[in-house]
Amino acid sequence: MNKISIIGAGMTGASTAHWLAERELADIVLVDIVEGVPQGKSLDLQEAMPIVGKDVSLVGANDYSATAGSDIVIITAGLPRKPGMSRDDLLSANAGIVGPAAEQCLKYSPDTIFVVLTNPLDTMAYLALKKTGLPRERVIGQAGILDSARMRAFVAMETGVSVENINCYVLGGHGDEMVPLTRHSNVAGIPLREYLPADRLEAIVARTRKGGGEIVNLLKTSAYYAPAAACAQMAEAILKDKHLIVPCSAFMQGEYGLNDMFFGAPVQLGRKGMERIVEYSLDADEKAAFEKSAVSVKETHDALKKLVAL
Ligand code: NAI
Ligand code: 2OP
Repeated sequence: MNKISIIGAGMTGASTAHWLAERELADIVLVDIVEGVPQGKSLDLQEAMPIVGKDVSLVGANDYSATAGSDIVIITAGLPRKPGMSRDDLLSANAGIVGPAAEQCLKYSPDTIFVVLTNPLDTMAYLALKKTGLPRERVIGQAGILDSARMRAFVAMETGVSVENINCYVLGGHGDEMVPLTRHSNVAGIPLREYLPADRLEAIVARTRKGGGEIVNLLKTSAYYAPAAACAQMAEAILKDKHLIVPCSAFMQGEYGLNDMFFGAPVQLGRKGMERIVEYSLDADEKAAFEKSAVSVKETHDALKKLVAL
């Protein structure tokens, strides 16, 4: 059986364990600093397995030795947003959590692939890459699957068409400057720009960009079911060697004209992790939107470099 460790047994961590267990993909270890929480949540999920008929083992722990030999490590540890906060407001607190967590996990699982969820996402993925010294194939950030799924959900709500017919691509950084690519999005192959009136499409793009904040305002904490489902989809694509192309945050080495930074792009996932970054052809407006988003991500990377020696 494959093994996946999830660091942080809070809302996103536990929900990721839930989606993963339902897929019967791997044995799961939940790690958290709070005593009893990872143990209690994993035992509760373990007791659900006879009901859903899945044979996976779920274990909770407060130390990293339990993660030894993980095929994938998913990092969700860290503070979530409260109303009024931006993802970047979490930088200094979460940098102190994600860096050591990544180093500890690598010690026990030298061959693992990291999926990072903690915010500010692109910069926390950058931190994990730099702290572990791994090749870029093995450190991938989750953001674009979630942002694109939000857009797909809004299009489905607007059109009444099955979510399975709706393809949307939201790229760029995981912040308010993210780039919903309407030209590349479609309903059953029909370009979104033809399918929807311009004002409805604009409203969907605006709602997508603020999708995380919409949930924070309602819940007073950040989203977890959809982010966790996105992590589970990435883990499945990797473990099943699916060669699935999905939007993820990846370390750029010249793609889209960007270097030495994480950024959201279509990424092909397989057993080695990130197999390649797909480069879309962009028109002038799309290029300008990418550049604006990249400037914003770079600023957060630069702020990290002032806080942590990399
Ligand atoms: P949460 O507060 O429910 O859970 C975080 C957990 O991390 C807590 O249980 C806490 O005890 C634990 N933790 C803190 N320090 C730790 C350490 N050193 N080692 C192990 N565990 C530690 O928060 P939630 O909702 O699960 O969010 C987690 C992070 O994920 C946040 O930074 C949030 O902004 C981010 N997020 C990112 C998304 C994305 O699309 N990239 C989507 C949703 C959330
Ligand atoms: C989200 O987009 C908070 O990044 C998280 O829901």
